[in-house]
Amino acid sequence: MVLISSCTASTLKDAAASLRSGNLVAFPTETVYGLGGDATNKAVIANLYQVKGRPTDHPLIVHISSMELLDKWAREIPAYAIKLARTFWPGPMTLVLKRTDLAKDFITGSQDTVAIRVPSHTLANQLLKEFESIGGYGVVAPSANRFGKVSPTNSEAVEEELSNFLSENDLILDGGQSQIGIESTIVDCTSNVPRILRPGSITLEMVENLLDIQISEFDAPNLGVKVPGSYETHYSPNANVVLNGITNLGDGFIALEEIPTPIGAIRLASPRDNFEYAHTLYNALRLADSKGLEKIIVIPPVKLGIGLAIQNRLKKASNENSNEAKTGTYKD
Ligand code: TXA
Ligand code: MG
Repeated sequence: MVLISSCTASTLKDAAASLRSGNLVAFPTETVYGLGGDATNKAVIANLYQVKGRPTDHPLIVHISSMELLDKWAREIPAYAIKLARTFWPGPMTLVLKRTDLAKDFITGSQDTVAIRVPSHTLANQLLKEFESIGGYGVVAPSANRFGKVSPTNSEAVEEELSNFLSENDLILDGGQSQIGIESTIVDCTSNVPRILRPGSITLEMVENLLDIQISEFDAPNLGVKVPGSYETHYSPNANVVLNGITNLGDGFIALEEIPTPIGAIRLASPRDNFEYAHTLYNALRLADSKGLEKIIVIPPVKLGIGLAIQNRLKKASNENSNEAKTGTYKD
């Protein structure tokens, strides 16, 4: 595995060629770092699942450089999905649509749908453009962490997660800290009305306002993604994450800046607002592990806007979630 710390136009060209020839390339996006592989290459995808330690029935997101390529991968695209794409792409939103024949079972977990995203990070977008210019159609990029673990938001975290699993010719591109810090909003566009399958920084309110509809509370917080299987934990550090718990001596502590650190606790993050909360959360969870902490007490933000997405990730990271997770249907 090679880490490329300063990406130029020519290194991106080489990285795209490497992707096309069957290697894996981890790269930054505005949400989190992704582990890229050629979406049309069955052997590459099999390897990618192994590197991540992810069950193969768990589908991947195809990344493309522009919405012009959408109809290569998706069919029967509803008007509201086009509107979402025109407004929020390139950006931190993934659309689930009915698939074309290009989207094979080995990336969709044998579902009839495919998830597509156009990232806005300039390095990611340039890499995809180069990849498409040499005959590629799309790059799958699951978050570049081992299955069930915390998504990486910088190249050091990718190395920490995957260096033992990547091969000699695989690459990690460094593009600094991911701006948003939590994964994209996933919107299911396979029926008459959209459903939010995973909340993110494109918020429920933003989707509702744009489309002038109400997405029912029932759909949004439950976030059931149609994937087989059920899982215990997601986005989990080694330390136990406890929401709103009582802090003991030596526990980690994450809360908005305005909430004072309880006596004896180790402050891991003091975000000033919810955007900074999302931006710093995964680093704070990793910091707890690097300090060898056993427990992290987290005071979640209110559930409005991006707060909904933060609460969702925190619930999945915490043990309180175990019952919900057993009946829940997604994990990354
Ligand atoms: O922000 C992101 O989306 C990042 C960056 C790297 O782009 N990627 C990411 O990928 O979070 P991953 O693989 O860690 O999470 C993909 C999620 C999973 O929860 C998966 O179940 C869901 O997307 N998904 C993929 N295809 C789907 C489909 N056809 N139907 C429903 N959900 C799908
Ligand atoms: Mg993931």
